[in-house]
Parts: sequence; structure tokens; C-alpha cells
Amino acid sequence: MEKVHYINHPVLTHKISILRNKKTRPAVFRNLVREIGMIEAYEALRHHPSITKEVETPLEVMEGHFIQDSEICFVSILRAGLEMGHGARDILPNACEGFISMARDEVTFKPTLSYVKLPAGIKNKHTIILDPMLATGGSSIAAVKLLREAGANVAAFCCIIAAPEGVKAFAEACPDVELYVGALDRELNEKAYILPGLGDAGDRIYNTVD
Ligand code: PRP
Ligand code: URA
Repeated sequence: MEKVHYINHPVLTHKISILRNKKTRPAVFRNLVREIGMIEAYEALRHHPSITKEVETPLEVMEGHFIQDSEICFVSILRAGLEMGHGARDILPNACEGFISMARDEVTFKPTLSYVKLPAGIKNKHTIILDPMLATGGSSIAAVKLLREAGANVAAFCCIIAAPEGVKAFAEACPDVELYVGALDRELNEKAYILPGLGDAGDRIYNTVD
């Protein structure tokens, strides 16, 4: 599983630990998800090629290094991925963005697709998917398949917390996609929630917890 990257950084672990706390309020929770989206997008672009262009500083001319950000596409899986997508956009505001809305069935845990909006020019774009939770892997694998069918070059999937079951399923189904994981948790429970996890990411971001 050489494409699976566990991002090991004390600042990231600190932020994820605040997310896990059931007392963390939605405003703080969603800000942290956004910041983590930014951190993980950085990681996913660590080896991205740059082009060189002349830059005139106030003192002299030099060769600057630039990412061709219009060739990059961030795709958020709604609901919960939307806030991570905002974080990714914060670092490269000229990247294009796509949205896939899926919800897991509470009994089968299979994702049902309800809305897709991808950039018209997604074909061959370097595409990075963002979704906080990788549980069974069903949603992430379905998103990769859908994007590939649209012609995207699916480069990476970023999640905040993953279950071992989801990592295994994703790595088997999408062996050529880089997987970035903020924290690897212990297991899934009988409702396919990650333990210890953080609960339902979408509910905590949008304050829809019962
Ligand atoms: C969550 C999460 C992922 C999915 C992960 O979304 O944001 O999309 O579950 O589970 P999986 O790996 O088993 O597919 P959810 O369906 O709860 O929707 P929400 O974002 O609207 O809360
Ligand atoms: N979706 C969530 O939001 N949390 C989990 O633990 C699993 C799936």
C-alpha cells in the first residue's frame, strides 16, 4: 500500500483531537475541517510539478516557480467534504472545483448519488477529492469511478479520519490513487461508523445532530 500516506504531524493531530471532542461546537468544528482541508491539499500537492516564469522583484529579475493551478480540480463529496473543499480552495483559488453529493444508506451502507456538478473541462485535470471520513470506502470508491468516467485524472483522495476497512477497500479498488489520511482509527462499529472517530461529520459541521 505504498500509495497510502498517513500524515504524521503534531499540528494536524492536535486539530483532529479537537474535532473528536463531542463538546466542540459547530463553528469551531467547521473551521477546523476547513483548515485540515488546506493542510491535506498541501500534502497532496507536495510533489506537483511547477513551471518557471520570469518574475521582477523590486531589486532584480529572477525565475519564479508556479503551479498551473487551472489544471487542478478539487472535488468535494457533499455534504461533509464541502468544508474541506473550501480549505483546498483557500490555497489555490484558481483551481477549478467539482461537487458530488452522496449519502450512505443506513442499512446497506452503500452510497446513493443525488447531485453531480463537475467543471466542463475536467478531462485530464489533476483531480483531488476531499471528504473527511473514509469508513467502508463505498463513497470514495464510487466518487473515483464517477470522476474517471468523466475523464478526470484522479490523483488523490484526502480524508481526515479513516477506518482500516476503508483504507484496505480503497487501496484495492483504486491502487493508483494517492490516499492521504489524517488519522487511522481502530475499526467500524455495526452501523459502519468509525471508532473512536468523531461521530457524523456532516451533522457536526451543519449542526444537524439530534
Ligand atoms: C459520510 C462521509 C463520507 C461517507 C463515508 O457521508 O462524509 O462521504 O459517509 O462512508 P463510507 O466510506 O462508508 O462510504 P454521509 O453519507 O454521512 O453524508 P453527509 O456528508 O451528508 O453527512
Ligand atoms: N460518516 C461519518 O460522518 N462518520 C463516520 O464515522 C462514518 C461515516
